[in-house]
Amino acid sequence: MASGFPAVPPPPLVRAIGLLRDGLAALHRRLVPGHLALLELQMTGYLSQSITAAAELGIADALVDGPKRPAELARALGVDEDGLRRLMRLLLSFDIFTQRRDGSYALNGISRALCSDSPVTLRDLFLFFGSEYHRNHWTHLADAVRTGTSVGPALDGADFFAYAAEHREIGELFDRAMSSVTTLTTEPLLAAYDFGRFGTLVDVGGGHGSLLTEILRRSASTRGILFDLPEVVERLPELGPRDRLTVASGSFFDAVPEGGDAYLLKHIVHDWSDAEAERLLRTVRAAMGPEAVVLVIDIVLPEHRRPHAGKFIDLEMLVNASGRERTAEQFRDLLSRSGFTLDRVIGTAAPDSILEARPTP
Ligand SMILES: C[S@@+](CC[C@H](N)C(=O)[O-])C[C@H]1O[C@@H](n2cnc3c(N)ncnc32)[C@H](O)[C@@H]1O
Repeated sequence: MASGFPAVPPPPLVRAIGLLRDGLAALHRRLVPGHLALLELQMTGYLSQSITAAAELGIADALVDGPKRPAELARALGVDEDGLRRLMRLLLSFDIFTQRRDGSYALNGISRALCSDSPVTLRDLFLFFGSEYHRNHWTHLADAVRTGTSVGPALDGADFFAYAAEHREIGELFDRAMSSVTTLTTEPLLAAYDFGRFGTLVDVGGGHGSLLTEILRRSASTRGILFDLPEVVERLPELGPRDRLTVASGSFFDAVPEGGDAYLLKHIVHDWSDAEAERLLRTVRAAMGPEAVVLVIDIVLPEHRRPHAGKFIDLEMLVNASGRERTAEQFRDLLSRSGFTLDRVIGTAAPDSILEARPTP
């Protein structure tokens, strides 16, 4: 395990704790009057924007060197002390930050994920989720439900990736948000699967290449090809072992690099409708040798009715991408239509699973 990453708990333990939490929350909702249960659920939207405000103001970063009293923290951030106290009151009530006996605020295990340089940092993700752009799209969720498709074209005149290519401030915010998600998922993925057994890995739509870089860093015999749109690879941050990593650009609807032993598609397939996903998977299939495998990394939607991250992200895909999350059976069908046989679905301690498939002869 890389230094600084929190230990990855075994997936069954994560599921058991989740079941307990869901059971207690469901019991609470059944015991209180229905209208109060509903009000409480709706108000979590305020909490969500409060977390983004904390990220925007840099509260966690300002506490890295140690606890600060409210006046001192307000001065350091250049904000109104009363406003800060009110924001912190809500956050503290959900265990985001702690407050010491002398009134000073301090980081805890939860707020540490808001620091820019934590091994797992979600700051950029929350800056994107709470941004005016993203919020505006979500205010049109009902339209997306009416039409069954993304609100992007109606609001921005283009689908998300075309819009992000033209509006690089949004594109870069998104790319950083994706790298932020990767800090969350990297360790659970590496704990669940031996990516180092492949000679050459092609990361299709690899974004900033954070996962690929980490795989190469840990496996000296693996080479990597990072493939993404030209406007994304033009602005890559410092990448990992450059002697074993090459960068290629283009559209995965046209062609992807040949010669990979494994093709990684992390958070790619869920961005697209079934027809588009089939098109891009067929492009990958065309580049692959008969022994190569495709590794689709996405959330696999459970069949149960309990809360699950996939049910939130599925709506994110509806609003912003015309994509969708899929059940294991839906993945099996999609892969089969695209020329693949699904061999294994490997769960991880993160919401993601790894779907390993090989070309159908
Ligand atoms: C949700 S992000 C996932 C990025 C990365 N795999 C990760 O998990 O952090 C989707 C990626 O697909 C890329 N992408 C979108 N359309 C593409 C296309 N037509 N060809 C190649 N890459 C594309 C985007 O630029 C973006 O980096």
